[in-house]
Amino acid sequence: LLEDCEVHRGALLHFLDDPGNDPDPRQGSMAFIEDGLLITHQGKILATGPASEWLPRLPSGTAVTRWQDGLIVPGFIDTHVHMPQLGVMASYGTQLLDWLETYTFPHEARFSDVDWARTEASRFTDLLLRHGTTSALVFCTSHPQSVDSLFEAAEERSMGLTAGKVMMDRYAPDDLMDTARGSYNDSLALLEKWHRRGRQRYAITPRFAATSTPEQLALAGRLAQEHPDVMVQTHWAENTGEIDWIRELFPERSSYLDVYDHYGLLGDHTVLAHGIHINHGDRKRLAETGSRIAFCPTSNTFLGSGLFDFRNAREAGVTVGLASDVGGGTSLSMLTTMAEAYKVCRLRGQTMTPWQAFYLATLGNARVLHQDDQIGNFKPGKHADFVVLDQNASPLLEMKSAYTTTLMEALFNLMILGDDRAVAATIVAGNIRYQRSASSAPDTS
Ligand code: GUN
Ligand code: ZN
Repeated sequence: LLEDCEVHRGALLHFLDDPGNDPDPRQGSMAFIEDGLLITHQGKILATGPASEWLPRLPSGTAVTRWQDGLIVPGFIDTHVHMPQLGVMASYGTQLLDWLETYTFPHEARFSDVDWARTEASRFTDLLLRHGTTSALVFCTSHPQSVDSLFEAAEERSMGLTAGKVMMDRYAPDDLMDTARGSYNDSLALLEKWHRRGRQRYAITPRFAATSTPEQLALAGRLAQEHPDVMVQTHWAENTGEIDWIRELFPERSSYLDVYDHYGLLGDHTVLAHGIHINHGDRKRLAETGSRIAFCPTSNTFLGSGLFDFRNAREAGVTVGLASDVGGGTSLSMLTTMAEAYKVCRLRGQTMTPWQAFYLATLGNARVLHQDDQIGNFKPGKHADFVVLDQNASPLLEMKSAYTTTLMEALFNLMILGDDRAVAATIVAGNIRYQRSASSAPDTS
């Protein structure tokens, strides 16, 4: 196999398990090779190891792509992001419910135009790659063609995305609403077309309990029961006004979480975005059912939604992923997202170590999506999806790097000061799909 392989050289860092959230990563959870080779074959990881050990084993004449000052990490994974909301980013002055009505729904209505849907899906996937994100769990719009457009764009780039059609049959503009039965049929057809076609996965996507009738929630739950290996994604407990409204809409249910529970929408394939205003009973039920939370810090601060309680979720045994939630979120960068997560933790008197942050954005998020057998670290046989980070990407990073001595500091510099500028290249299934600029070109020898 070494006869026909591709080789990247740089510093290598990946996680084999949850490092915990203490200053030192748990024994054996992290692997770092200061001068390493990442060897790929037909889009998959073949091996990693020290350059000194592996260079002599390579057949003579093997090209080695050398990333000077590059830190190679697994491709970032985003566990909650909206493809149709790029144009909604940076919308001024509202909280969730007004934000949806004023900015988001009108923008999503544009996706009835299939040419627009295709243009935006291409722009979105290219922007993910520019930010070092190689996989994601994605909301499309209620228009089935928005889902086709996104999966087509992902396929063209050999990326593996998980995505679904928004189900929404009340409290939205007419041109965005479906019907309970229609949304079931459309979701089923898309699921049958795209789920496990190559790297793609489908996700059943009721927007949130407010914009679905009980009939629609029941059918979404039925679809999930009929397809237990398909992800379910929705929003939950983001904003206090939202929660009051849910209480009015579902007076017979004991809590917001109980609405989803009642309709069979909880389980270990469910990702609930936000989960800010929740209690210990909720956490217990999440842990029991295996339901996951996507922590979306830039969205939560931008929309003034609140501060997610990371420590209590972890201690209750809830699986937590990290996510951008663009366009409520303000950046597609998982580095910027890590920085905001750290700040939210600080505002709660908590912390998030760089080990934990980089773990979440890679192997942790792969586990959230049940794709850790495919992506998330450099174990041989996984897809060769990785990012080359440049520790000197900006004048400030360069200045800080000059007196950075430990790996923990280097990672913290990248997460606090880095963004898409710090992504020198993004490799998907062994192919370079994004490269920052010609001046950052690697030496090939
Ligand atoms: N709740 C229901 N829909 C949305 C959405 O599009 N974004 C966010 N952040 N929350 C929601
Ligand atoms: Zn969202």
